[in-house]
Amino acid sequence: MSQHSQAGSQSRDWAIEARGLVKDFGDNRAVDGVDLQVATGSIYGVLGPNGAGKTTAVRMLATLLKPDAGYARIFGHDVVKEPQIVRQLIGVTGQYASVDESLSATENLVIFSRLLGLGRAEAYRKAADLLEEFGLSEAAKRPLKKFSGGMRRRLDLAASLIAQPPLIFLDEPTTGLDPRTRNQMWDTIRRLIKAGSTVLLTTQYLEEADQLADRIAVIDHGRVVAEGTVDELKSSVGTSSLQLRVQNPLQMELARQTVEQVLGVKSSISAEAAKITAPMGNADRVTDLLIALREVGVSLAELSVQKPTLDEVFLSITGHGATEQSASSSAQSIQMEGQTI
Ligand SMILES: Nc1ncnc2c1ncn2[C@@H]1O[C@H](COP(=O)(O)OP(=O)(O)OP(=O)(O)O)[C@@H](O)[C@H]1O
Ligand SMILES: [Mg+2]
Repeated sequence: MSQHSQAGSQSRDWAIEARGLVKDFGDNRAVDGVDLQVATGSIYGVLGPNGAGKTTAVRMLATLLKPDAGYARIFGHDVVKEPQIVRQLIGVTGQYASVDESLSATENLVIFSRLLGLGRAEAYRKAADLLEEFGLSEAAKRPLKKFSGGMRRRLDLAASLIAQPPLIFLDEPTTGLDPRTRNQMWDTIRRLIKAGSTVLLTTQYLEEADQLADRIAVIDHGRVVAEGTVDELKSSVGTSSLQLRVQNPLQMELARQTVEQVLGVKSSISAEAAKITAPMGNADRVTDLLIALREVGVSLAELSVQKPTLDEVFLSITGHGATEQSASSSAQSIQMEGQTI
């Protein structure tokens, strides 16, 4: 294979290639050297808490914001040097629906289609097809101000699909949706991939990334702090998280060393709560840990094993919690709180 054709195939294989992306807002560095590689035909999840820089990164990739440093290519086309080509290859669904409130769902989609150069009959046909696809046919004539949040979100996604772009950016497509509507959105996103698109999706929900994404980048304070397949990420975090508090604060360090020895992982101490947190691949190891702690004479005030929440993923990856509220639920956690030995 010649050098030339190799370069050509690389640009087709990668829907997104970004290196060292930086964006400053005044003295706030919102995106701080982000690298991303998204394979064509995949769903890529960008996971992070409020303010992590997800939307800012997406806006740079989508040519809506100029990077202060670094570069990004969409199917091999530079976002700064070839924005017109890039815009023809992408669809962007924002965190907020960007459609006219007083017009009906059909009218909104027809306007989008006409703006993209479709003929009148074709625009109406396309609108009807999309409303059907998104389960909105019954609400076709209803003005948007009478739409629920979930219906809006679906219409917003439908609007971004009129051009059937090869790459679709979905910025928190399910935040605030009820579980049933969220599941419908997930199905729709899976269908987009089957139809040949590539999707980059930002989310605050670990479960969403888990359900949909082939690969995930965890971003925090504008940096990618972990990247890999869902399985890789989970095994680095542990499927469960151990939280432990000791009775005597002077034994914290000894307890931490014991945890690390027994579980063979890195743990972290949150100072304010005097709590040790560690990833735990196998919850059965709790028994070994309890025995080891007793052998070294550490008395526990509290011990719990929980499925990881987004906060704990951050805690174990970055050594600090997500500053904003955690979006993930730990309802399925196995609580063993208050166990004392
Ligand atoms: N237009 C802007 N002007 C000034 N600061 C901005 C602007 N957009 C974002 N920021 C700042 O950049 C940082 C990253 O914001 P961004 O919106 O990218 O985060 P996010 O990960 O999308 O968060 P969320 O989950 O809340 O949507 C934040 O500190 C935010 O205040
Ligand atoms: Mg955002």
